[in-house]
Amino acid sequence: MRKKVTVVGAGNVGASVALRIADRELADVVTTDILEGIPQGKGLDILQAGPIVGSDAHIIGTNDYKDTANSDVVVVTAGFPRQPGMSRDDLLMKNYEVVKATTEKIVQYSPNCILILVTNPLDAMCQVALRASGFAKHRVIGMAGILDSARFRTFIAQELNVSVENVSAFVLGGHGDTMVPLVRYSHVAGIPLTELMDAATIARIVQRTRDGGAEIVKYLKTGSAYYAPSAAAVEMVEAILKDKKKILPCAAYLEGEYGIQGLFVGVPAKLGARGIEQIIEVKLTPEEQAALQKSASAVRELVEVIKV
Ligand code: LAC
Repeated sequence: MRKKVTVVGAGNVGASVALRIADRELADVVTTDILEGIPQGKGLDILQAGPIVGSDAHIIGTNDYKDTANSDVVVVTAGFPRQPGMSRDDLLMKNYEVVKATTEKIVQYSPNCILILVTNPLDAMCQVALRASGFAKHRVIGMAGILDSARFRTFIAQELNVSVENVSAFVLGGHGDTMVPLVRYSHVAGIPLTELMDAATIARIVQRTRDGGAEIVKYLKTGSAYYAPSAAAVEMVEAILKDKKKILPCAAYLEGEYGIQGLFVGVPAKLGARGIEQIIEVKLTPEEQAALQKSASAVRELVEVIKV
């Protein structure tokens, strides 16, 4: 049977997620938005690319949640984007209402789905979706770590003039200014990063990774990134639909792992058909653990404001 993925929000991120899923024939896609006509128009446009790219994925756009029924995976991109000068956290109250209402409608029609959150501030929005859905924690996952890690990998590859495919690196913590790029676990074709770059270069790349989202907002002025974020969300969708057991950095609800209790924070997680099938706990140095705790505290502050 065909798999079904709903993408909530037909803006730049949502439409790019829908396009990537359809192009790769990963599933049939329903794209939905509160704006009338936008999901219908973009959906039809993507559908008509099918004969050219060789995809028989069905895609429809709709304003009616009934059409989303029985989705296997739902990607939530709905919300207000970040404007220049605005931190991800400024979006908190605006997007809280959007994500809460969206989640309630989604679970009404797709009670067995897995939810992937993309809306910012990411980690706090995952907590909103977890509470509003009533789902078990392994079925609510946030996309941030893959994106932040991809930025880190891109900058490392550029600096060393090597293929991005040679670079393995990951970022832990919240999707915000306190994210924790894990230099010690980053390597290029198996060679530790610290053997290939001096400390000042690494520090510069780590900072650029932290500022990665804001760097793009500054250029675009009226919105935030969407090509890399959509690619990251689709890597998660694929891992779940194909039950790949792929270890990816994701926002996961922690209950004691890494010493963090009752909070979504970015950690390495194994994604398969059941959603998060395992949280991988890597050994951290006291400095890394302190940075992760600081990042978790920043997430907790937001969650306390919205009381979820
Ligand atoms: C970014 C925004 C979308 O990191 O959070 O690009």
